[in-house]
Amino acid sequence: MSQIHTIHLRKHYRVHHKAPGIKGSLQAFVRREYQDVRAVDDITFTIEAGEVVGFLGPNGAGKTTTLKMLSGLLYPSGGEVSVLGYTPFQRRNEFLRQITLVMGQKQQLIWDLPAIETFEVNRAIYDLPDREYHQAVAELTDLLGLEGLLTKQVRKLSLGERMKCELAAALLHRPKVLFLDEPTIGLDVTMQANVRRFIAEYNVRFEATVLLTSHYMADVTALCKRIIVIDKGRLLYDGDFQALIERVAPHKCK
Ligand SMILES: Nc1ncnc2c1ncn2[C@@H]1O[C@H](COP(=O)(O)OP(=O)(O)OP(=O)(O)O)[C@@H](O)[C@H]1O
Ligand SMILES: [Mg+2]
Repeated sequence: MSQIHTIHLRKHYRVHHKAPGIKGSLQAFVRREYQDVRAVDDITFTIEAGEVVGFLGPNGAGKTTTLKMLSGLLYPSGGEVSVLGYTPFQRRNEFLRQITLVMGQKQQLIWDLPAIETFEVNRAIYDLPDREYHQAVAELTDLLGLEGLLTKQVRKLSLGERMKCELAAALLHRPKVLFLDEPTIGLDVTMQANVRRFIAEYNVRFEATVLLTSHYMADVTALCKRIIVIDKGRLLYDGDFQALIERVAPHKCK
């Protein structure tokens, strides 16, 4: 059975539209005008358990909006969405325990405290038994090379070190489905490769399903056999990554 599916999924944001200047402000005061932004406009796909899929598209294509709907942070405007048999926006505990959303541009670690303190918060949120928690911390420390980092104040960590701690914090509860939104953004090439290696290892070790966005081609090449490409909220391509390269740039395959 497929683990993730969307059918004609849509999300339209209603935004307040105001003409520039004082005149515009006065007009808006009397009569507010709204505009619909069709962030996600008709997206249908299915992902099987254990797949690592690249979710690609230019800035503003609707990737983050889709990931937010898949992880239950946003309510769709239309269509269907299902992950692990759950309807994400219902935010059932059993669902939330099995997924994670990591956003490279946002952080969940508490800035003024060491990362281990955020780990403790997540341990309480997910109600992790002692043994499972300590095992997860040990395993992630080993996989990500976190020695010495967890007890350092988060604001004193480098960007790459912090990203590794972010990933660990988001994976303590051993989710089966990972939504990764630009997990390597801003990292140097070595750290990008480390994070990539870690994602691949996590996928194999825990048979996890990964849907990943990135603007770095190297991430996609290294991790994803299949890609889904969207633009302006619509699906452009869903299939084998290599086959797409052969189609659009055959010279690169020689
Ligand atoms: N809360 C919001 N209110 C109104 N419009 C929004 C909101 N969030 C996103 N949008 C708009 O929806 C569209 C899709 O945004 P989204 O963040 O999903 O794109 P993206 O594919 O993740 O882009 P990027 O690669 O730049 O991260 C954009 O036009 C954006 O301006
Ligand atoms: Mg985005």
